[in-house]
Amino acid sequence: MTEQKTIPLFSAARANAGFDLKAATDRVIDSHWYVLGKEVERFEAGFAQYVGVDHCVSLANGTDALELALRGLGVKRGDLVATAANAGFYSGTALHRIGAIPLYVDVDDQSLTLSVTALEQALTMRPAAVIATHLYGQLADVENLAKRCRAAGVPLIEDCAQSHGAARGGMRAGSFGDIGCFSFYPTKNLGALGDGGAVTTGDSALAGRIRVLRQYGWAQKYTVATAGGCNSRLDELQAAILSEKLSHLDRQNAQRRSIARRYSKAFASLALRCPVSTDEDFAGHLYVLRVEGRDAFRAHLKSLGISTEVHYPIADHLQPAYPDARIAGPLAITEAACSSVVSLPIFPGMTDDEVARVIDAVRSYFESAES
Ligand SMILES: Cc1ncc(COP(=O)(O)O)c(C=O)c1O
Repeated sequence: MTEQKTIPLFSAARANAGFDLKAATDRVIDSHWYVLGKEVERFEAGFAQYVGVDHCVSLANGTDALELALRGLGVKRGDLVATAANAGFYSGTALHRIGAIPLYVDVDDQSLTLSVTALEQALTMRPAAVIATHLYGQLADVENLAKRCRAAGVPLIEDCAQSHGAARGGMRAGSFGDIGCFSFYPTKNLGALGDGGAVTTGDSALAGRIRVLRQYGWAQKYTVATAGGCNSRLDELQAAILSEKLSHLDRQNAQRRSIARRYSKAFASLALRCPVSTDEDFAGHLYVLRVEGRDAFRAHLKSLGISTEVHYPIADHLQPAYPDARIAGPLAITEAACSSVVSLPIFPGMTDDEVARVIDAVRSYFESAES
């Protein structure tokens, strides 16, 4: 019997197969222009149009996108910012760099994204902004979150690092709130061949402030007119690669969703919880189950050559580096999710046979538990 190859959680080789990335990189190399040039302008215009907003400002990574979005909105040291605690501490990282204080809010039990009810309570604590993460590729209840934020006069930041292309009612992630923040880390639905990030917004003044902040706070060369600036630029090579990949994003997202649909259908009668949606409002970034006894489940899958991961095992308010976390109320759903979530392989280029192997492996775990 031949040993079966391990199925990875994600494969860059497969996700990038079939793209003409060499033509994109050759163009940049031949131009001898590497930072803030025509490729960046082209990508920013293309991505703004894709998201459905007037402005995209490209940046060095997704964490900078969150930080500069917050700074652009005027968030400062000591301000509270409401955010979920189950999304990998990226918002926490950006907030602590500013000296602002994360105010952790519980998530909805179905979608695992920011709970509208819990946010209502948090808004009474007067946060300076709200960050809603479209976790795993699932759009949050962003229309209702935006309504509550507008009524309270608090800006809404969408963290779209996992949800490029997720849409509802003809609107895409990154166009519902005051500003959207994206990462183009290689494993993302729209991934570069290195780090990258961007913000998207319909607010031209806000976009202008972030353009200044991404380059030292310069009003013009060597005149630092705005405090809090940094060096956070997407380079021309990554911009050229991202423009090439953007034209295939919807096709790749459709493939991710079709894998997710096969999983959800196959797992419907098992003692686990599947993602709430496999429709257009789900970009299929991660396929995350909730399983009691997760360690035994993962060990079983590993024995059958199936990779799994946990996104994320430690809730933000329990991270050891920041023991004095502020919470807006009980975080029971967040904490329960952290101990039961487990991600299965899902990526463009995953074969039908691989999907079938994952399904068989998951089923065999529950069948052996029954007998
Ligand atoms: C939800 C979320 N927000 C923010 C980030 C930060 O992006 P980056 O790694 O590009 O800084 C990530 C990714 O790693 C993410 O998954």
